[in-house]
Amino acid sequence: MISSTASIQNAISVRNLTKSFDGGRIEVLRGVSLDVQRGKLLALCGPSGCGKSTLLHIVAGIESADQGSVCVEGHPLSSEKNRLQALRHTIGFIFQLHNLIPDLTLEENCLIPSLAIGTKREEARERFHELAKRTGLEHRSRNRIQDLSGGERQRTAICRALMNSPSIIVADEPTGALDEKTSWSVFGLLCDLVVSQNVTMIMATHDRDLARNSDRILNMRDGRLE
Ligand SMILES: Nc1ncnc2c1ncn2[C@@H]1O[C@H](COP(=O)(O)OP(=O)(O)OP(=O)(O)O)[C@@H](O)[C@H]1O
Ligand SMILES: [Mg+2]
Repeated sequence: MISSTASIQNAISVRNLTKSFDGGRIEVLRGVSLDVQRGKLLALCGPSGCGKSTLLHIVAGIESADQGSVCVEGHPLSSEKNRLQALRHTIGFIFQLHNLIPDLTLEENCLIPSLAIGTKREEARERFHELAKRTGLEHRSRNRIQDLSGGERQRTAICRALMNSPSIIVADEPTGALDEKTSWSVFGLLCDLVVSQNVTMIMATHDRDLARNSDRILNMRDGRLE
């Protein structure tokens, strides 16, 4: 009874994850376990190379672990059906390096995840315009990504991650390319979603001030949580 209540409250449950690259030569995750309670914001901190992005990719089902398990909204990602559901519907992922398509416009980039799950173009465009307004990008929607500034690209990546109204946001340095003022405004937007729509968020960040404004901070070092 206690364990089932706990699993319902946790939007993300990770147990004993290990991951290495290059045939085991680069050990990146060495037994990571964590829970993120529904509607909470967890900040993941730690030095460059300690494994934050790798962990977030595995949590979102983008990469697979060598061992261990991930449950998203109570569904284990070991099932391919659950993994695709999480990737397409449940989780909005904000990539550290944006992963936008440079030749397409800001709007076209953002429409992709919505059209991919069968949302009608008009509905997707409406959602896009609402998000573009909130992130201060409306005037740039028809510009190609390659013509945008680093900060505008970052905000585009955030817009794209929010297009399918995810219940979980996995954000890998979401304010990494932003000046201090824009950083706080983007963080405010993400926090607003967490509070007003009961969204759960896990965010890797080097910014200790942002981390301090989260519900909880976890520190990572050499592939382990401290
Ligand atoms: N596909 C890969 N092949 C080989 N090594 C990799 C691969 N992906 C990550 N690594 C290595 O794993 C380690 C952890 O990388 P990761 O990107 O998870 O770190 P990070 O904590 O996100 O760092 P940063 O703060 O710089 O973004 C690094 O040493 C990196 O070089
Ligand atoms: Mg990283």
